[in-house]
Amino acid sequence: MVVLLSNWSDVQSVPERYIFPSDVRPGNLDFPTYTDIPVIDLGNPDKNETIQQILKACQDSGIFQVINHGVSEDLMDETMNVLEEFFNLPGEYKERFYSQDITKPCRIFSSTLAYETEEFHYWRDNFTHRCHPLEDNIHSWPENPTKYRSVVSKYSVETRMLLLRILNMISQGLGIEPGYFEGELSKTHLFSVNHHIPCPDPSLTLGMPVHADPNLITLLHQGHVPGLQLLKDGRWTEVAPLRNAFIILPGLTLKVVSNDRFNTAIHRVVTNSKQTRTTIGVFLGPSQEISIEPAGALVDSGEAPVYRGFTYPELFNVFKVNHCDALRCFKTDSN
Ligand code: OGA
Ligand code: NI
Repeated sequence: MVVLLSNWSDVQSVPERYIFPSDVRPGNLDFPTYTDIPVIDLGNPDKNETIQQILKACQDSGIFQVINHGVSEDLMDETMNVLEEFFNLPGEYKERFYSQDITKPCRIFSSTLAYETEEFHYWRDNFTHRCHPLEDNIHSWPENPTKYRSVVSKYSVETRMLLLRILNMISQGLGIEPGYFEGELSKTHLFSVNHHIPCPDPSLTLGMPVHADPNLITLLHQGHVPGLQLLKDGRWTEVAPLRNAFIILPGLTLKVVSNDRFNTAIHRVVTNSKQTRTTIGVFLGPSQEISIEPAGALVDSGEAPVYRGFTYPELFNVFKVNHCDALRCFKTDSN
């Protein structure tokens, strides 16, 4: 059965299956703003200072924003516009991509990959496709809107370069060899768009489950409609959209490579009653085969590895049932 919220029109009330139990739903919508997410200026000529700021953010909050990152405002806006146009296309066109099979290079689904079996549905559609190498994947992308492939390919290439630049600063800061993250650890490159139509009662629903990102690193363009929330001292707080900034989330894979120096922010998404919300995530993650493990440069010096080696499919299997603490079962005995 194909369900896409973006095909619904004139929704007057929240269907029962989207109403979360009272201990999970947002309830009172008066959330404080999370004010201390570091905003890091990548245009700062003092590169060492930037590296230290990135390291500190990865260690402390497990989330930061970047400005003056080199991706133009026009490209960010154009990409957002082309995606909004895509979600407004007739249902039959989008349904051609409908699939919950993660081996499909380009797919759209609603709520989560477990739509058929889950007890409650999340208020979102998600459109995800692979991006790298571009020439192997672009043919699976939509041909409509007609600008889709040219705009999204430019965006994918530029955001990938930006993420690799950030990863390179991280490897310098950690004292691991340059280029460590290029290759197998960042081989999977996904472009993942969340789309939430206005919800008649956001106090009852969620746009995404509470989770930590399992991949290596995420770059998120939140657009202009709030919804992303972080757990801070046991309270949900809102990440206010910052124009032209990208949100960067070090993922669980990076936490392992850092031998537990880094944090991965736990987050969720709430819905909005007035505006449609579209966000663009760019995920870099490991190949299926490589062993995810603490970097040699960190543990060869005598530091005990906090995690044993494991593959991404092993991690993803645990993540599917434990969205926040999937790493627990990969800890070494002493940890
Ligand atoms: C994600 C995510 C947040 C958002 O896709 O992993 O957390 O605001 N997205 O869409
Ligand atoms: Ni996430």
